Amino acid sequence: MRAVALTEYGDADVMSVQELPDPLVGPDVVLVRVAAVGVNPVDYKIRQGKLRERFPHHVPLVPGWDVAGTVEKAGPAATEFAAGDEVLGYVRKDHVQWGTYAELVAAPVRTLAHRPPGLEVVTAAALPLAGLTALQALRATGAGPGDTVLVHAASGGVGHLAVQVARELGAIRVLGTSSERNADFVKSLGADPVTYGPGLGDRVAELVGGDGRVDVAVDFIGGEALAASPALVRDPARHVSVVDPAPVLEQGGRYVFVRPDAEGLGWLAERVADGRIIVEIQQVFDLAAAPDAHRLLEEGHVRGKLVLRL
Ligand SMILES: NC(=O)c1ccc[n+]([C@@H]2O[C@H](COP(=O)([O-])OP(=O)(O)OC[C@H]3O[C@@H](n4cnc5c(N)ncnc54)[C@H](OP(=O)(O)O)[C@@H]3O)[C@@H](O)[C@H]2O)c1
Repeated sequence: MRAVALTEYGDADVMSVQELPDPLVGPDVVLVRVAAVGVNPVDYKIRQGKLRERFPHHVPLVPGWDVAGTVEKAGPAATEFAAGDEVLGYVRKDHVQWGTYAELVAAPVRTLAHRPPGLEVVTAAALPLAGLTALQALRATGAGPGDTVLVHAASGGVGHLAVQVARELGAIRVLGTSSERNADFVKSLGADPVTYGPGLGDRVAELVGGDGRVDVAVDFIGGEALAASPALVRDPARHVSVVDPAPVLEQGGRYVFVRPDAEGLGWLAERVADGRIIVEIQQVFDLAAAPDAHRLLEEGHVRGKLVLRL
């Protein structure tokens, strides 16, 4: 199969198109012919070698954890799927090697959901990792009816979905931090935009009124945003970060590392298919242009998602 792979860690140029063996298909594994791949910051962090102390890595290494495509073959115990099914998945495995920037990917059943009619394939590829992160972060806070929710980095891949997921979970009000450039976009998602940067806490407090605090905060950027959160949440246990475990745990909040979750993925896919949740896609690249997609994402200012199309 053709895949984008690396044999050494470093900048975006370490990735190239290579011919690699087709994946093995285990008994409870599904072989997916890949149509599109969502690009996530974790992909470039893996490419840089930054996750080598957390997961075993092996080369040649094909990056990528998000996928949408068609089932080519289902292992004998993978009874949930059959050849020809359209699927999407967050295909994180215990070892980092055979990712989704490839024509074929072997996906454990727990990582996949059926792609409903109405969910277009590029959109489906952009959804899994970011959507599940948004959903699992918000569920970890118990976000629900009546809550006011603050989403840090509301214009990014995870944040723009978190704003909408918070609404779906019943939040009465969502505030989303962004640059001024993205304020209208954040507003269009159903949140009150707040400009990030110095004075953020004061701006949030002023917008909220009353005691100046929110019920829930979810952080998808870290740094100053995370530092501001404890003072802005009524109960520190209801603030979550996905960026760096140590600071949020010290603050009494929670750290979430997104897990493959077929049920959660189905929940999200259904809502995107019927238009309740919009997935913003800034740009679609050819698979071979993966280095360009990484360079753009690494600048840190993508609106929504980037996708590779095969
Ligand atoms: N633990 C986990 O399971 C997990 C899962 C997913 C993601 N993550 C991590 O979460 C982070 C976000 O992921 P992502 O996919 O959403 O990234 P992303 O799409 O690259 O985020 C880009 C967005 O961040 C915004 N931004 C930049 N600086 C900001 C600031 N100081 N305050 C608020 N917003 C700011 C940008 O808005 P402007 O252009 O307006 O500046 C841009 O829209 C990454 O570090 C990623 O690795 C962790």
